[in-house]
Amino acid sequence: MNKPLFGTSDSLQLFPLAYPWAWDMYLENMDNHWSPREISMGTDVALWKSDRLTEEERHLFLSIMAQLTTFDVQRGDETAETLQGLLNPPEIKHYLKRLADEEALHTYSYQFIIENMELDQQEIYSRYERVPSMRARVDLAKTISTRAQHVLAKRILQPEAPLTLREKQEVIFAAIFWFLGFEGIWFVMGLTGPIQNLARQGKFTGAAEQFQFIFRDEVQHIRFGQYLIQAFREQHPECFTEGFLRGVQGLFQKVIDLEADYIRYCLPDPILGYSAEDHVETAKWYADLRLKQMGLPPLFNAEHRFPWMSEQLSLRKEKNFFETRPTEYRTGNALRWEE
Ligand SMILES: [Fe+2]
Ligand SMILES: [Fe+2]
Repeated sequence: MNKPLFGTSDSLQLFPLAYPWAWDMYLENMDNHWSPREISMGTDVALWKSDRLTEEERHLFLSIMAQLTTFDVQRGDETAETLQGLLNPPEIKHYLKRLADEEALHTYSYQFIIENMELDQQEIYSRYERVPSMRARVDLAKTISTRAQHVLAKRILQPEAPLTLREKQEVIFAAIFWFLGFEGIWFVMGLTGPIQNLARQGKFTGAAEQFQFIFRDEVQHIRFGQYLIQAFREQHPECFTEGFLRGVQGLFQKVIDLEADYIRYCLPDPILGYSAEDHVETAKWYADLRLKQMGLPPLFNAEHRFPWMSEQLSLRKEKNFFETRPTEYRTGNALRWEE
C-alpha cells in the first residue's frame, strides 16, 4: 500500500501497514508502560530537607530539573502540533500520538518530583527565561519548529500543492534536530549524566530512577527517529544534498556548543568526580554516534567518559517493577546501553 511520508494519501486507513516498524515500536512502547507514582521519592525528600547537600549540589539538581521540565513540555507540543500534522501515514501518526503522550508522562514525572520535594514551581518552570544558556536551547528548538510550521501552514491551506525541495528539507532537518539532537543528545545527557552520578553516591536516588524510566522511553523515541529519517532518505534522496548535510553537521556543532554553555552553568566546578569537561566530551561522543547512524563522518572523534553509565541505567531487576500490577505485561525492552 502506497503511503508516502509527504503526500495526500488517506491518513485514516491504518491497516495494511506501509511502515510496520512504526506499529512494532508502538507495541514496544506499550510494553514499557510505567507510572511515576510507583517510584518512591521519600529518600529524596528527606535528603532535600537535610543539611547533607552542598549549595552546588542543590544548584545542579534544580538546574537539571528546570531544563528537563521545560524540554518535555516543548517536545510534546512540537510532536503534537507540528510533526504530527506534517506526516501523513497513519501508522506514523499513531506512534507520534504515543510519543506525545509519553512526553506528557515525563512532564508529570518531573512535576511529581517537584511536588514531593516541595520545590518552588514558579522558579523551576520559569528558570529558562532567566538563564541565557537554557534560553538559547529553547530558542533554537522554537526557531526550527517555526520553520517547519511554515510548511505545515502550506499543507493545510494548499493540500494538493506539492512541497518544494526546500520545504521537504526543512521538515527533515527539523526531524533530525528533534530526534537526534534534542532527544538524542540533550535529553540523553540530562537524564543519564550528573544526577545519575549523584545517585551512585546515594543522593537523589528517587529522581534518578524516574530519569531512568524516562530515558528508556527516550531511547525508543530516538530509534523511531532513526527509522523515520531513513525512510525520508529512501523516499527523498534528492533532499540530502551536500549543502544539506553540511547544515546537519553545523546543527550538531551548535547542539554541542549549547550543551557546553548549559552544563558549565549547572556545574561550574566538578561535583563528586563529575566535571563539565567530561560531560561535554561524552555529549560529543553521542553527536558522533548520531552522525554515524546517518552515514555521516564523526565531527569530534570523542570518547565516552562515563563507563559507569551503562550499569547505572539498568533498571534494577530486584525491584520487580511490574509485579504489583494486575496485568502480565509482555517482557518490555530491557533498558539497553544504546546501540
Ligand atoms: Fe521525554
Ligand atoms: Fe522523547
